[in-house]
Amino acid sequence: MIDPSRIAGRAQAITPFHVMDILAQAKRLETQGKDIIHMEVGEPDFDTPQPIIEAGIKALKAGKTHYTPALGLPELREAIAAWYETRYQVKVSANRIIVTPGASGALLLVMGALLEQGRNVLLADPGYPCNRNFARFVEGKTKTVNVDASTNYQLTAEHIEQYWDDNTALALVASPSNPTGTVLNQQQLKSLSDAVALKNGHLVVDEIYHGLTYDGYDAPTVLAINQNAFVINSFSKYFGMTGWRLGWLVVPEAYEQVMDRLAQNLFLAAPTMSQYAALAAFNSQTLAILEQRRHTFEQRRNSLLPALRSIGLKIDAPPQGAFYIYADCRQLLTEQCPNSMALSKHWLQQAGVAVTPGNDFGHYLAESHIRFAYTANEERLMLAIERIKHII
Ligand SMILES: Cc1ncc(COP(=O)(O)O)c(C=O)c1O
Repeated sequence: MIDPSRIAGRAQAITPFHVMDILAQAKRLETQGKDIIHMEVGEPDFDTPQPIIEAGIKALKAGKTHYTPALGLPELREAIAAWYETRYQVKVSANRIIVTPGASGALLLVMGALLEQGRNVLLADPGYPCNRNFARFVEGKTKTVNVDASTNYQLTAEHIEQYWDDNTALALVASPSNPTGTVLNQQQLKSLSDAVALKNGHLVVDEIYHGLTYDGYDAPTVLAINQNAFVINSFSKYFGMTGWRLGWLVVPEAYEQVMDRLAQNLFLAAPTMSQYAALAAFNSQTLAILEQRRHTFEQRRNSLLPALRSIGLKIDAPPQGAFYIYADCRQLLTEQCPNSMALSKHWLQQAGVAVTPGNDFGHYLAESHIRFAYTANEERLMLAIERIKHII
């Protein structure tokens, strides 16, 4: 008899996504023939751009099926360094770039290198749910800071001042953020950098949604301001490569060696064919496709935002990036649906619309918030609003 009580406490402490309940229910309804509009999914609905796919196929046919160095294919690390130069006019030496299995791999490396028992990481609540679990997995603690529209749902220098304690090792922020899509500007990144430096700590900025910003606004990289920051990024979102499992991490020079050792032992290397495919991610043909997609996302956001407001949802911080809208659903709560989870289930059952309840992103305001991902086409998004309108 296998005894599940022998599962390590570290693993037992890892929490599942609440949205999995919604997804499982959506699947059941779909098998019954019901049409479900998916606004819960955190990945672009577009397939990987063709030039990247072709580069991947070419690599496979050429026998690029062996390990690469643990820190990544040298050509790809150079290409990412060149991307910082052309895209942001920031010089980053390729040595400081580590290619990882997704931003997830980068988060594991950072947490593994900076956290341990007795140390904690400062995080915003609401925020990306896996961050808390990565911290738990390396036996560190999280210190969450409740954030709201007054700070654009982001950590500020004042928060660092107020919440940092003797055991805090790092602060982790995301810009644009998941679930709110809010962006940190240059001045805010500078104040955060200064505040963390004063504490002798580390600042980690998750820039995975870079490239997906709207209203003519471009999210600055923290590296333009602070070369000591750690940067997480990925080919998943802007480059449309979620399934290829490829991301990267930029570290200060002093951390290159430890990251090499961690990467060697934890993953050996990121997927080889994906790394070769990603060499085509920065060419002009791919970038033209990505720009078109960014434009489509912007149009969807521009349509969805007023439509959500028109049915009684409140969005108090304008989402400037990513593909999410985090909305206050308090006005729509009823005795039958007293919180965002119940409301999400009700919408799925009655309207065939799947969304993510706030509980997946933390505790603060979670019961009164819902995340909408605009990862379906505009027609479907508008149909979702019509269906919800019908049942409220
Ligand atoms: C803020 C944030 N960071 C990291 C990730 C992990 O992405 P991946 O491992 O696909 O690169 C996600 C995925 O949704 C995310 O939203």
